[in-house]
Amino acid sequence: MEEKQHIGQLFDRIAGTYDGLNHGLSLNIDRLWRKRTVAAMTPAKQVLDVAVGTADLTIEMLRRGKVEQVTGLDLSRRMMAVGEEKVNRLYPGSVNFVYGNAQQMPFDDASFDAVTCAFGCRNFSDLDAGLREMYRVLKPGGQLLILEFSYPSNRFVRACYDIYFTHVLPRVGRLFSRDKTAYTYLNRSVKSFCWGESFVRHLHDAGFREESFVPLTFGIATLYTARK
Ligand SMILES: C[S@@+](CC[C@H](N)C(=O)[O-])C[C@H]1O[C@@H](n2cnc3c(N)ncnc32)[C@H](O)[C@@H]1O
Repeated sequence: MEEKQHIGQLFDRIAGTYDGLNHGLSLNIDRLWRKRTVAAMTPAKQVLDVAVGTADLTIEMLRRGKVEQVTGLDLSRRMMAVGEEKVNRLYPGSVNFVYGNAQQMPFDDASFDAVTCAFGCRNFSDLDAGLREMYRVLKPGGQLLILEFSYPSNRFVRACYDIYFTHVLPRVGRLFSRDKTAYTYLNRSVKSFCWGESFVRHLHDAGFREESFVPLTFGIATLYTARK
């Protein structure tokens, strides 16, 4: 099966339980990370939320009045359907959901004032292709904000993190989502992904400037920002 189909289907399977598990398994800390991301955002008219999923980051941007119109792109129709329902209740008409691959986006060059992506990049089969696409669709001077899991540097936090991600999260995830593989995949994808300076080098290679990053909650997640 093609990689993109596989990822889309994986998220289709867990779409119904994604929000509840996300907030429960992170003890709601994921909400704080999205708030931090939006706080770092320069107000923008047209925003592209890559890997929009169930639209939590999009909703936070709209709630804070940072954006006028959002386009959400994702490979999972079911994740977007959950997102669309939430958006229609709160901010009808503010979001255009588009099915598509982040590594080959169906948008013209320089279409957006800002591009965001929360917990999406580590799912890309080709990270550099995804970042190059984000660069291409951004207007000159536009802002990029990426929120992604990372690996804590403190040894004690790292030990707790390892136990949680290897033993607790896959079991609880399997129990509630009834999916055998999705949360084991989450654990593997987080550990094998680059973070910090190494991620910043990918941003630089894609053409971005003013790259910087802030570790959040002992480095369990990291917020990266840059400009075209
Ligand atoms: C962990 S969820 C994050 C969703 C949302 N941004 C959030 O903060 O909760 C990852 C999302 O990325 C999407 N995704 C993964 N690879 C993708 C790709 N190549 N192109 C578009 N979306 C992708 C998945 O379908 C899924 O909805």
